[in-house]
Amino acid sequence: MNILEKIKKSINHFYNTKNNIIKLPENAYNIWAKNYDNEKDNLILHYDNIILKELISKIHLKDKIIFDYGCGTGRNWSLILDKNPAKVIGCDISQKMLHKLKEKYPNEEVYQSKDLKLSFLPNNTCDIIISTLVIAHITDIEKMFFEWERIIKNKSDIIITDFHPELLAKGGVRTFKNGREVITVKNYYHSIKTIEEILSHFRFKVLNLIEKKIDRNVKHFYEKQNALKIYEKFYNTPFIYGIHLSR
Ligand SMILES: C[S@@+](CC[C@H](N)C(=O)[O-])C[C@H]1O[C@@H](n2cnc3c(N)ncnc32)[C@H](O)[C@@H]1O
Repeated sequence: MNILEKIKKSINHFYNTKNNIIKLPENAYNIWAKNYDNEKDNLILHYDNIILKELISKIHLKDKIIFDYGCGTGRNWSLILDKNPAKVIGCDISQKMLHKLKEKYPNEEVYQSKDLKLSFLPNNTCDIIISTLVIAHITDIEKMFFEWERIIKNKSDIIITDFHPELLAKGGVRTFKNGREVITVKNYYHSIKTIEEILSHFRFKVLNLIEKKIDRNVKHFYEKQNALKIYEKFYNTPFIYGIHLSR
């Protein structure tokens, strides 16, 4: 391995105590992209759907410009497009996730974003920002929210869902299988309070917060994955949240 490869490897790969490979989001999702839409019995994706449906049922998407931050493969786009928005715009750091989205929605507008910048969008463009299962992959959420503030209109809504920070704080990890490897995607801890505080500086108020805990209702997901030890370890810990803010 030459020096350049060694440097790349030390940046992109870490090994945790269980020998799972930990990858930075762009690299991880470039690998996950090929199977992401085929995930079965995935607790987080299942509940994310339920929460997002509940949150968007309270707002009007019709004729609005929706920006999906970290849109991935466009998993939520049929749900969003069914509400007849004026337009959905997506961005993602992973070219391969966007490629999958484009296979399904060839005419929609998507951009690959870098360094949290959204320079492809003018000021005051969007009515609603939706971001599902992304925030904990971002190191500097303050920088990200400043850029959101630039592109969102004055009267607007923000919907965020994500892996729950309490689960991250207790050592919960976001993993997927790639052949025989188990890959962990790098996450960063941001409390829900921190998110609310930053967005309150931009005059956003919380209208709805939904949190789901690991309890008997979700035990069958762990049984199917042969992961009852993890179920017991994290019993009663919230595993996902969704928040709707408006101004
Ligand atoms: C768990 S996936 C969620 C994708 C989609 N929102 C969904 O709910 O299915 C997380 C997504 O966030 C994207 N992502 C991670 N870091 C990002 C960043 N800094 N900027 C934009 N997208 C990012 C990843 O590439 C990936 O597509």
